[in-house]
Amino acid sequence: MLAPVWENRSVSDLLNAPFLASDTASDLFSEPKPSPASLLLMGKGIDLASERGVECDGALPRTSPRDIVERARAARAALGERAFILGHHYQRDEVIALADVTGDSFKLAREAAARPEAEFILFCGVHFMAESADILTSDFQKVILPDLAAGCSMADMANIEQVEAAWDDLIAAGIAEDTIPVTYMNSTAAIKAFTGRHGGTVCTSSNAEVALRWAFDQVGGVEGRGKVLFLPDQHLGRNTAALRLGISLDECVVYNPYRPNGGLTPEELKNARMILWRGHCSVHGRFSLRNVEEIRAKIPGVTVISHPECKHEVIAASDMVGSTEYIIKALEAAEPGSDWAIGTELNLVRRLAQEHPDKNVHYLDSTVCFCSTMNRIDLPHLTWAMEQILAGEVPNQITVDEDDARWARSALDQMLALPGL
Ligand code: 13P
Ligand code: SF4
Repeated sequence: MLAPVWENRSVSDLLNAPFLASDTASDLFSEPKPSPASLLLMGKGIDLASERGVECDGALPRTSPRDIVERARAARAALGERAFILGHHYQRDEVIALADVTGDSFKLAREAAARPEAEFILFCGVHFMAESADILTSDFQKVILPDLAAGCSMADMANIEQVEAAWDDLIAAGIAEDTIPVTYMNSTAAIKAFTGRHGGTVCTSSNAEVALRWAFDQVGGVEGRGKVLFLPDQHLGRNTAALRLGISLDECVVYNPYRPNGGLTPEELKNARMILWRGHCSVHGRFSLRNVEEIRAKIPGVTVISHPECKHEVIAASDMVGSTEYIIKALEAAEPGSDWAIGTELNLVRRLAQEHPDKNVHYLDSTVCFCSTMNRIDLPHLTWAMEQILAGEVPNQITVDEDDARWARSALDQMLALPGL
């Protein structure tokens, strides 16, 4: 995330200001012509112990110099149908402009699976999304993440050893047999594989309700006494269970992997319906109830629309809640002149403001934050990846080991087979 920059200003205000005060257009024009060496990029190493791939210092790469745009277009044209570029909605505009398809994590997983002819899937998103694409595509296809530092801090909050230890705690409490794991797409392939091995499903923010209903159906229904272990986003799990399934907040407990037995007594585990992993999104975690109250006081009649990764009090106070794709559709259907306060990542909110000049788009938070790891993918990284492919290399390929891939696929297939999707 960036440090607070703009206070209480509408996105239209922000759009009229130069984007990234430290990286103004004049900086771009004064840049020396980039040599190929300028495309030797951050994030080329890999640390297998981390979802993030490599250490990420949090600094945003510079806005891309102009001639990179020409190089990017040329490389894209030369690759033709050998490559398919997927762009998550949180990507920078310069990356979205080159994407063959854009979407939320659910749509992108489907799109990756629906492109058997493309030899290279260039995934402009984060590491867990690229892993899922690798699992869903055939062996001859190669999934490329243009910058290996594009991870997800939420996915990093659960590792497989911690999750296996938590499951042992559930066995010891005598409740594992009545518990179905459901993991958010924002998790490592190893955790998706754990979920598959234990008969569970993956979900995304656009199908969490259906996934939870399905999971409870495996253990006696929502009205029964069965449980769900929800990984790794406590907020998506709590919001869906409480606001869509009618499960009480008292029946939602938080399992803290850094405390013995998750910080819960065997009794608390037994009484719970939702066992929520103690994970969250560092971007969406910044929105607060105060943000909602302030914007309502400032703009009477504003519609507050938030992503379900926000805290429960924010979601409960919002008018509409949904995935990135849902938010985009809501803005498309909105009346001209209507006011919207959007609680999700800033690249997307800025783009929505640009695309809907006839509607008043406001950012819900009074501080500006991007997802810093989504922002790691920029035009130089994407151009570098495409040029490497054209030079006969396979840069930054994301692969999942065979056993994990098999079980993770079973959990992903379960998600893709959920009713009504
Ligand atoms: P969507 O599933 O809505 O695309 O969200 C993914 C994500 O990472 C949100 O933080
Ligand atoms: Fe992860 Fe949050 Fe970034 Fe989404 S916005 S990729 S959950 S850190």
